Amino acid sequence: MAKHARKATNRTTDKETGDRARFFRFVRTMPVLNSVDPLPLPRRRSNAQLQLGRSGRRLVAPPRLLDYRTRTARLWIGAHVSTSRRLLLSPPHMSGREEVLVSEAFASNWIAPIGPFVSRFEEQLAALCGIPHVAALSSGTAALHLALRLCGIGPGDEVWSATMTFIGGVAPILYEGAIPVFLGVKRDTMLLDLDVLEEQLAQAQQPPKAVITTDLYGLVPDIDRLVALKRRYGFVWISDSAESVGSYCGGRHAGHGADFVILSFNGNKIITTSGGGALVSHDGEAIERARFLSTQAREPGAHYEHRTFGYNYRLSNISAAIGVGQLEVLAERVAARRRIHDHYRMLLSAVPGISFTPEAPDVLANRWLTTIEIAPDTGFDREKARHALEAAQIESRPVWKPMHRQPLFATARYHGDDAADLAFTFGLCLPSGSAMTHEDVERVAAVITALA
Ligand SMILES: Cc1ncc(COP(=O)(O)O)c(C=O)c1O
Repeated sequence: MAKHARKATNRTTDKETGDRARFFRFVRTMPVLNSVDPLPLPRRRSNAQLQLGRSGRRLVAPPRLLDYRTRTARLWIGAHVSTSRRLLLSPPHMSGREEVLVSEAFASNWIAPIGPFVSRFEEQLAALCGIPHVAALSSGTAALHLALRLCGIGPGDEVWSATMTFIGGVAPILYEGAIPVFLGVKRDTMLLDLDVLEEQLAQAQQPPKAVITTDLYGLVPDIDRLVALKRRYGFVWISDSAESVGSYCGGRHAGHGADFVILSFNGNKIITTSGGGALVSHDGEAIERARFLSTQAREPGAHYEHRTFGYNYRLSNISAAIGVGQLEVLAERVAARRRIHDHYRMLLSAVPGISFTPEAPDVLANRWLTTIEIAPDTGFDREKARHALEAAQIESRPVWKPMHRQPLFATARYHGDDAADLAFTFGLCLPSGSAMTHEDVERVAAVITALA
């Protein structure tokens, strides 16, 4: 699958030329735009102002082309903005089958946190991940909480985590009274820096009980290296794959070598159950225990007997029916997000100072969200771009703020350099929903191009 998709990406030259021509042709054919130029042309940029991309390659467009693109983009915006519908970052994308399956669930009256769709969803997720045991849960956060509880994490235990993540990917550490320690990320991918992890493991008097890696924006870290580190140092590896459903590394699904994998089906994810998540593991007993804890830890028997406390964390049969429908189109959704990512690259690659996150050669990322970085001295910054997009009815968002910079974690330990700070300062998430059309992507790209 990975090979196939990469081939398609590399064959974009003709298509790119066609798309670009179509973009400009569209604007030229609009009569109102040929007669007026509503915005002044941008200043030419001197060589000194041109930026180096992350790869060291110069991100340079010939000044004439850049001016033309910028002018075209401004005309495009002038014509479209006031009448355009709002573009969201990552709205749900239903296929239509979900409604049929939900009706089926209604007809059978399994309106409960158990039922045939829950079991079916779990089996299908196991097949997707290539990992045999799955508990379908109410959220990814719940899945992480259960993983920590199953590891026996308690007050005073250290849990190490990548600093760039969403709060749901670390808050459960606090639920258990454990101590979060944050680690730096790679400058280009924003994924946990495995050199920092290895260095810290080598220096620690005692390794942490658990390490959480985060598959940021659908990218996947080096699975083999993480497996080797976990074997050598004896920690539990929890892969927060909330954002990487449908991503692969070396032909294996995201999180494959981890002790526990967290999935999220929140409304903004690549596939959704409106709200939901899953805990995935090779350890069947652990997943059985997760099911027990997620249904209030009720001991077997007619009356309610409790030796420990649990949670109300199970996924409902109705939500699972939506999930079964969404899994049918996961491959299409991944292909669509990757197409959108490639289209952004093609339209914005000539804008000086804009760069994208790379994909390792053996990784097939689902490109859940396309993120760009806007280098300093580009003439506009992340906030200017965000406000311009907002004015054009387009939602965008800064990349995750590093956890060690959150007031909540002001006293937490951090090991790493300033890569996360820089990524946060310059990084912006662009609308990436799989239902976006070619024109939608062009609309976003036009707003950014106009700032150059
Ligand atoms: C990286 C990461 N971890 C954890 C979560 C939590 O998942 P949920 O919203 O399903 O609780 C999310 C997303 O929502 C996430 O993006």
